[in-house]
This record gives sequence, C-alpha cells and structure tokens, in this order.
Amino acid sequence: MRIILGVAGGIAAYKAALVLRLLTEAGHDVRVIPTVASLEFVGRATWEALSGQPAPSDVFEDVPQVLHVELGKTADLVVVAPATADLLSRAATGRADDLLTATLLTARCPVLLAPAMHTEMWEHPATQANVATLRSRGVHVLEPASGRLTGADTGRGRLPEPADIVAAALALVGGAAGPRDLVGQHVVISAGGTREPLDPVRYLGNRSSGRQGFALAQAALARGARVTLVAANVTLPAPARADLVTVETAAELRDAVRAAALDADVVVMAAAVADFRPATAAETKIKKRPDGSALVLELVQTPDILAELAVERLRAGQLVIGFAAETGDGDASVLEHGRAKARRKGADLLVVNAVGAGRGFGTADNSVTILDARGDVVASAAGSKAAVAQAIWDAVAALR
Ligand code: C5P
Repeated sequence: MRIILGVAGGIAAYKAALVLRLLTEAGHDVRVIPTVASLEFVGRATWEALSGQPAPSDVFEDVPQVLHVELGKTADLVVVAPATADLLSRAATGRADDLLTATLLTARCPVLLAPAMHTEMWEHPATQANVATLRSRGVHVLEPASGRLTGADTGRGRLPEPADIVAAALALVGGAAGPRDLVGQHVVISAGGTREPLDPVRYLGNRSSGRQGFALAQAALARGARVTLVAANVTLPAPARADLVTVETAAELRDAVRAAALDADVVVMAAAVADFRPATAAETKIKKRPDGSALVLELVQTPDILAELAVERLRAGQLVIGFAAETGDGDASVLEHGRAKARRKGADLLVVNAVGAGRGFGTADNSVTILDARGDVVASAAGSKAAVAQAIWDAVAALR
C-alpha cells in the first residue's frame, strides 16, 4: 500500500520514526511529509533514510512532479503523527500552506490523525471544534492518550503508542495488520503495457498505466510474499521491496516472466501485452510518402504468454492468474467475453474489467469480476486499485 506519513511539529515527532518502521516492515511504501516546524525536532535525513524516499515539506520542491496533487491522489492511506493543535486547525479550515496540508486536501483515501499536545491545548474549545469539524468530514481523529507530557507534567494529550496508531490506521484500509497468507511464497507479477517498435522512434502501445499490477505487488508484499515485478513501460515508482525487471516489448516480457516463473508459486499476468506486433521494425525512421499514399503495416500475432504458462505450469502446483480488459461489443457483454476467455486460457483465475472511456486503464479506481477456469464468478470487487488487489489475493488464497 502507498502510505503518506505526515509529521507535525511537536516533541512526539521522534515517535513517528517508530510508526514509519512498523509500516515499512509490514511491506508498505511510505512517503514522509514533515512540516517545517517538525524539522526542529527530527531532521529530514532521518525520514529519508528510514523511508528510502525523499521527504519534502514544501509545495515548491520538485515542482514538475506537482507533488501536492500527486502524493495525495495516489495514496491509499494518510496518517499524521503527531497531529499538533496547529495542524488540526489548518486541516479543519482547509489551509494549503505547506505540502502536508495541501496533500490532505487532495487525498481521497482514509485519513487518520493522531493528536499530541499539552492538555490545555487539547481541551481548548477551538481545538475541540476543529476535531469535531474534521470528524464530521470523515477524517479519523484518534483520542490522545493520558500520561507523561513534554516535561514533568502529565495529563491528556500524549501521542498514542506507535503500534496502536499503526493498528488503527491499517484497520481503516482492511484489517489490523492484514492477512500474511503469502509468507514464503514467490509471486511474479507483470504490469504495464508493452510497446512494439515500428521504427527507431515509433511503437504500437496501449493505455495501461501499470497501477493495478503495482497495487498487486504492494498487496503481495504486505501479505509476506517475495515479489518479482516485471514492469513494461510504467512511470510509477515501484514498491521498494519488489525485485524489479523492466521490459519494453511482449517478447522481452515473455522472457522475463518465464525466467522468474521457474520458481514462482503464483504468476499474475496483469500487464496489457500486445496481441500483435509489426512483422518487421524498420531500422531507420519511416518517412512520409511523396505521393501521399497510405502506409500498410503487417502485424503478426505474439505468443499468448498467459495461455502458455497455464498449459506448461513451469513449477508444480503453480497458480496462474490472468486479466481480461474488455470493452463489450454487439456480440457479447464484458462478462460474456470474459467467460469465453476464462475457458480458453486455462488460467486458475481470470480478472475481468471493463475498459475504455475513463474506465480501467490509467484511472485510480477499478471494478472487476473474478472468474474461475470454468468461467464461473468467484468474487467481484470495486474501489481503489489497492482494495481490488486485496480482493484478488483473497480469491487466490481461496484456491489453496
Ligand atoms: O487475450 P487478451 O490479450 O485479452 O488476454 C489478456 C490476458 O492475457 C492478460 O492476463 C495478459 O497479460 C495476457 N496476455 C499474454 N500474452 C499476450 C496477450 C495477453 O499473456 N500476448
């Protein structure tokens, strides 16, 4: 899962390092966004070293990436620990004066705030009104613990224990620590879309972003698997703990998947693999015709990697999972096409999703129907690609 950990400026900021550790050890990809004030307590180097990722504070850092939009929109979960009185106030009023508050405005995933402050600040009607406002909008605000505060003083306002924060945060996205049913398993996942060269500068490609395949990899890591991720032309950051193999064409993807599949327990073909490639790729750039005549391309079919894997089972007992991106047509619905494909391909499960016109490819959400080898529906799932990934792994677990 892709998690944002916001850190606001309070003495409890050092405890966020433990929150970060617990989240990364559970297999999640965590980006830390410290406020500038929090850097007085814990330096940026700590966050970058522990998360293995940049930890920016300012909307003017890494401007071409438009981080304040990108980080929030692509997150599966946002946790702010500690959330100070000032952070609660800025979040409640919708301020966007640093990267963390801007990210809170763009996030469309569950948000959990873990407050920490002096008792008087927590009990002040202004803070209580801010908490009530945030809760009314669906933000989860934990109750602070009671106990030792900054100095010798004690009372309400202490940051909840890191393990409790992590448990509460993960419970928002499907279960305390989530199932660990892939421990000891090697999972191979293909993701993205292949590109078949026409000449040195042009290719035939497709609109697959690789988001669903990457979400499957993240979910598999969280469930304890060793993951080989074969990525075709994906621009997203790969989950830190996956073994990444990058490929461009269907032929390269076939070689990489088959090599990794030799010792895989599960192979998931989430990539949109070209069904056809140009019969030949020109060695030099194809020029326009002086007479304006049409260019006719000859395409040849590529081997069906999924069907091959399903027949060969490169390792005994290996499960093979396919995807079917369908648009439906005059002859049959999306599901009918999926059923026919499930029977034809011989995979153990076929994940069918409707694509086209803003659906499926490149979008943040997905909606799928999971079929078994006979074409019978075993599950359906809709929501974030992270949630759909969990449903797919649940269906895989049910096969064992
Ligand atoms: O037949 P279609 O391309 O719709 O099938 C989609 C499924 O088959 C996906 O799981 C995709 O990864 C896989 N596939 C493949 N090799 C191809 C084409 C598709 O493995 N040449």
